[in-house]
Amino acid sequence: MKVTDMTFKEGHEFKIRIKPKDDCNSFSINIGHDSENIAMHFNPRFDSCGDTNTIVFNSLSGGCWGDEHREGNFPFTRGEECKFYINFNNEQFYIKLPDGSMLNFPNRLGDVKYKYFDVKGDAKIVGIKIK
Ligand code: GAL
Repeated sequence: MKVTDMTFKEGHEFKIRIKPKDDCNSFSINIGHDSENIAMHFNPRFDSCGDTNTIVFNSLSGGCWGDEHREGNFPFTRGEECKFYINFNNEQFYIKLPDGSMLNFPNRLGDVKYKYFDVKGDAKIVGIKIK
């Protein structure tokens, strides 16, 4: 699901509620300029691309993936709604996971305003709020 007409700026807090499907293999939250330029690809993989219960982060620039970051903490369950809080500055994205722990990922595109927001994979968006 793509969300258009939404601007996500430095200093905003972005709250997103997502429900992974009962048979979810993977889903991703993508924030950037367009489908070829994604500053943050946040991709929990239950069972996908050879990964189990791993969060993969990456960025996409001009259609090319950068270096992946992997995280072992995996506080998600198939079929159970979960909540994330995301904010960022020109250097980092900060993601609060459903268990309250924090992750960060470098803002490699370095911008302080993004208009492209997309959730892909086996999950549905329950709610989005920006403040
Ligand atoms: C690929 C996968 C993409 C994206 C990327 C991140 O293997 O097909 O969907 O997750 O890894 O590096």
